[in-house]
Amino acid sequence: MEDAARFIEDAVEEIYQAVGDRQALIALSGGVDSSVSAALTHRAIGDQLTPVYVDTGLMRQGETEQIRETFGHMDDLRIIDAREAFLDALTGVIDPERKRQVIGEQFIRTFESVASEIDAEVLVQGTIYPDRIESEGNIKSHHNVGGLPDVIDFETIVEPVRELYKDQVRDVARELGLSDEIAERMPFPGPGLAVRVIGEVTEEKLAVARGATAIVEDELEAYEPWQAFAAVLAKGTGVKGDNRIHGWVVAIRSVESRDGMTAQAQQLDWQTLQMIQSRITGEIDGVARVVYDVTHKPPATIEYE
Ligand code: XMP
Repeated sequence: MEDAARFIEDAVEEIYQAVGDRQALIALSGGVDSSVSAALTHRAIGDQLTPVYVDTGLMRQGETEQIRETFGHMDDLRIIDAREAFLDALTGVIDPERKRQVIGEQFIRTFESVASEIDAEVLVQGTIYPDRIESEGNIKSHHNVGGLPDVIDFETIVEPVRELYKDQVRDVARELGLSDEIAERMPFPGPGLAVRVIGEVTEEKLAVARGATAIVEDELEAYEPWQAFAAVLAKGTGVKGDNRIHGWVVAIRSVESRDGMTAQAQQLDWQTLQMIQSRITGEIDGVARVVYDVTHKPPATIEYE
């Protein structure tokens, strides 16, 4: 981005004007978009902003700790443990779009209670430009774009980074002094690991997806993928010791992209792939095999659901 400092100045002024003396609420996801939106808004209105992090149980490894580290200085930070509620609501849900709806509804419920508690009239969202395009085209329902405002009665929605692409948001993050870990963080879908486990969401599958994704992120750091993760596909047969096992099939995805609208599967060398395979099958219980996804977008999407 050409002039991130200038963008920040303008955005802070715009937020200040838009919010006035009202209370505002933002949902943090741990990602760069909501982190930047929160940091900008906090600069503009300070303690009138209540950042809320909902621990859905669908998040990446270490996410809750990272949120505490980054936003712990904001007095009003709220961390809500909603893991049980989300998992209960997802029981028996198989259809991908239904999963998104269920997750969106749970978010709304959690939000409503905080919003009414603090009398928030303004909702701040980390929507970026490609989110709006995909939602308008209805490629997938992005719950963080379509869901909340329709249902909860906020007077005003503020989207400080709505005109930016991901790489521009990262520039702003660095300019704001957010940690590299956040500025460089790969995109993560609103519905979280739920769209990275095919079929019903269970604690067991989530644990496999979470652990395997941490390994993938670790092993692929040098490749600087735009997005890389592991997904849990199904069960297949394998051998452990003298026994045949029926274990998880884990898919690795690593893509290059500018904005997520199209993407190219990354070319990884065999040694790297083998290292990922051996770590995932060795370190995570119940995994029988690991496959690498070579499909570009299109025809595949980046996420599995
Ligand atoms: P797909 O899978 O549609 O993903 O190729 C494109 C980019 O969007 C992210 N993604 C989502 N982000 N809510 C979000 O906030 C969602 O429901 C959602 N679905 C996909 C995905 O991680 C990728 O970066």
